[in-house]
Amino acid sequence: MLTRPVSGSSPSSPASAPLTEPDTPLARHVREGLSLPFKTLSSTYLYDDEGSRLFQQIMALPEYYPTRTEFGLLTRHQEAISRALRPQNPTESFFLLELGAGDGLKTKILLRHLLETGAQFTYVPVDISKAAVDGLAASLRTELPALQVEPVVADYAEALRLMASRPGRKAVLFLGSTIGNFLPPDRQQFLQSLAQPLTPDDRLLVGFDLQKDPRLIRAAYDDSQGVTARFNLNLLQRLNRELGADFDLSQWQHYTDYEPLSGAVRSFLVSCQAQAVHFAALDWQVEFAAWEMIHTENSYKFTRPGIGAAAQDSGLAVEEFFTDEQDYFADVILRPAR
Ligand code: AVJ
Repeated sequence: MLTRPVSGSSPSSPASAPLTEPDTPLARHVREGLSLPFKTLSSTYLYDDEGSRLFQQIMALPEYYPTRTEFGLLTRHQEAISRALRPQNPTESFFLLELGAGDGLKTKILLRHLLETGAQFTYVPVDISKAAVDGLAASLRTELPALQVEPVVADYAEALRLMASRPGRKAVLFLGSTIGNFLPPDRQQFLQSLAQPLTPDDRLLVGFDLQKDPRLIRAAYDDSQGVTARFNLNLLQRLNRELGADFDLSQWQHYTDYEPLSGAVRSFLVSCQAQAVHFAALDWQVEFAAWEMIHTENSYKFTRPGIGAAAQDSGLAVEEFFTDEQDYFADVILRPAR
């Protein structure tokens, strides 16, 4: 098994370790991000085990359409998508890599179809949450016992390095519109780094959430049950726990906004009053003015021409474009352009 420790946390160190060893990626990131004139933290840090659990709840919310829409579109197009991903020669084996596998619920549609049609492949789910990958591997052992699985606990960069070092045909899945979390220049760099190790026969399947009724988009990130708010606020709890911070969660609010010109949903944590937050592990204090915000996430929404342009800018070409009946979401097959 190719399991690796989650970057930034050593499996052998006790929970209090960050207090004596603050030089972790999270510690460095927080020092940097909260020193900027407009304070910002990366959405990758939303996914500790509690954050991953809350995201599972988000996916079941009535307002959060992307997951069930993509599930429906993968069900609808499973045959054509599987054909586009696997080698032409049905006996040739391949790796099916999935970046940010989560609970794998959507992927199981493709896995089942590929197994039923006799495809020879190894499924390599990659996630930064060990709990998520372990849960997925366990459920796959009972649900699809014939499937070969090699789970990897790693961030995307590590997974890409792994992919480049292994010979054989690859299909890489990046579902769920996580691509929308990148700012445009970072998105281009990321897609380039995905494209670079691919051979001409390898394929990428990337999920893009599409631009639609702006009210529908906004509601998906500000649900009536407050689950998305808890998901965002959990980041502060994580900083309290891992960096000995003293954020008073009753003095912070979740705020989100959709901006149709750029297609960006932006999420923030809002300081409801002037306050200072102390980080014991960093021996450091940060001041927040009343209503000052921490930018915590971007969730870009795309147009079909925008997807084509993003692919082209990264050395990729759109091979096939699959969408649902309402054109809410697209799963796009990409191939190296050369
Ligand atoms: C997991 C990145 C696809 O941006 O829609 C959901 C994360 N944030 N609600 C998204 C998220 C708030 C989600 N992705």
